[in-house]
Amino acid sequence: MQSLLQQQCEALAAARYPLHMPGHKRRVAPAPGLGCYAFDLTEIGGADDLHDADGILARAMERTAALYGSARCWYLVGGSTVGLLAGIRALAPFGSEVLVARNCHKAVYHAIELGHLTAHYLVPPVVADFGVYGSLPPASVAAALDAHPGVRCVILTSPTYEGVQSDLKAIADLCHARGVPLLVDEAHGAHYLPLAEPWGWWGGAVAAGADLVVQSAHKTLPSLTQTAWLHLNGSLSDPDAVERELDVFETSSPSYPLMVSLDGCTGWLKEEGPAAFAAWRARLDRFAAATRGWRRTPVLGLGPERRDFYAFDDGKILMRIGREGAAALREAGFEPEMVCGPNVLAMTSPCDGEEALDRLAEFLARRDRTEPPVPRAGALLPAPGPARCTIAEGLLRPARRCPLEEAVGRTAAEYVWAYPPGVPLLAPGEAVTPAFVQAVRTLNADGTALHHSGRGDGKTLAVLA
Ligand SMILES: Cc1ncc(COP(=O)(O)O)c(C=O)c1O
Repeated sequence: MQSLLQQQCEALAAARYPLHMPGHKRRVAPAPGLGCYAFDLTEIGGADDLHDADGILARAMERTAALYGSARCWYLVGGSTVGLLAGIRALAPFGSEVLVARNCHKAVYHAIELGHLTAHYLVPPVVADFGVYGSLPPASVAAALDAHPGVRCVILTSPTYEGVQSDLKAIADLCHARGVPLLVDEAHGAHYLPLAEPWGWWGGAVAAGADLVVQSAHKTLPSLTQTAWLHLNGSLSDPDAVERELDVFETSSPSYPLMVSLDGCTGWLKEEGPAAFAAWRARLDRFAAATRGWRRTPVLGLGPERRDFYAFDDGKILMRIGREGAAALREAGFEPEMVCGPNVLAMTSPCDGEEALDRLAEFLARRDRTEPPVPRAGALLPAPGPARCTIAEGLLRPARRCPLEEAVGRTAAEYVWAYPPGVPLLAPGEAVTPAFVQAVRTLNADGTALHHSGRGDGKTLAVLA
């Protein structure tokens, strides 16, 4: 079914010959068979303007906000990345302080860097079996807010890349009691909306009352890559400031096919969502039931370690099957989302085929009978060393490269992360610790590629001169 915005764009596109962008003029497909160029418009009369929306785009964004229960929703065409850059800039003035969960995506760090912000970290506990971050205890947020009364906002990620949720309602309440806005990176939780709650997807950031919520529709819902939503709630964030920062960070030529995709996704959720979520739940429950007899194949969130979490999105299947297991998975016809250390992630969605998860369960059950268990993750997540300056200063001051081992005790001048998940093992401006060097050695030995923001090669590190 065509979305309303798609119908409106197609009608506008059919009305006149386009003497304007885009260059394909809706006559030459950018690639054979690619149909969406037919409604690839620009800001002509009637097509509205994403950066000053009061027409068909404003109405489409209202439809999405109504479905999610947020006060405002902005369509994003640069992924959650642009929502995080703009949202953090809107909440935290240049040079101010923020409280930020250490397990945030690199886009959050880039926002901190660009705003010359001072980051005070909230470090969630690590789930020992898998070496991934667990839920952030609300008490730790309260204590950090008391210790840093000057922070302009709290920034955290829930659910994480691996599906771990934090108690957002409790955290939002204690932030609001102190008049501090909460921004939640829910890039992996666009499926947390009221109509999905009966099927187990409860505890989302909009329902919890978070002030700004960023969701990548493209990650878990039927919407094109790069499409995302930024929701606003309550009175602690200023919609005009958000719009101004979206103007700064987002392209002035937003793609109509991407925006149509977001409205189409909204329509799909409304019409097909309840049945699709029910079917997804049934597939995941069958998968969970299948895991019960396994002895040697741990799956995060489906074993005894579950008590470590406040809540968990079981649509993310993190299996400890190692690189050999990932290779076997590929041979069996599955391409995993991520392989990091011994962990392999399968990301599911309401759009999976009916039998895909049953086949995955059969594959894992076979392995469980024949393969030895894969050892637990080593120390993959070093605690951050003390910050000696801001991230921006760490990047701007004169630096030099030195062998990794010699960097211990010096101040980092670059980021290091495994991507995905894109959570820094080291951020500029902080002291390099022996635990960091050990984590790099462990990941290198395992063949996990590490990315440096400088020209690092895993053997050297940029440090302040
Ligand atoms: C937790 C988290 N936040 C933000 C992002 C950025 O999202 P996008 O790719 O939609 O810009 C990602 C990307 O993987 C992510 O994992």
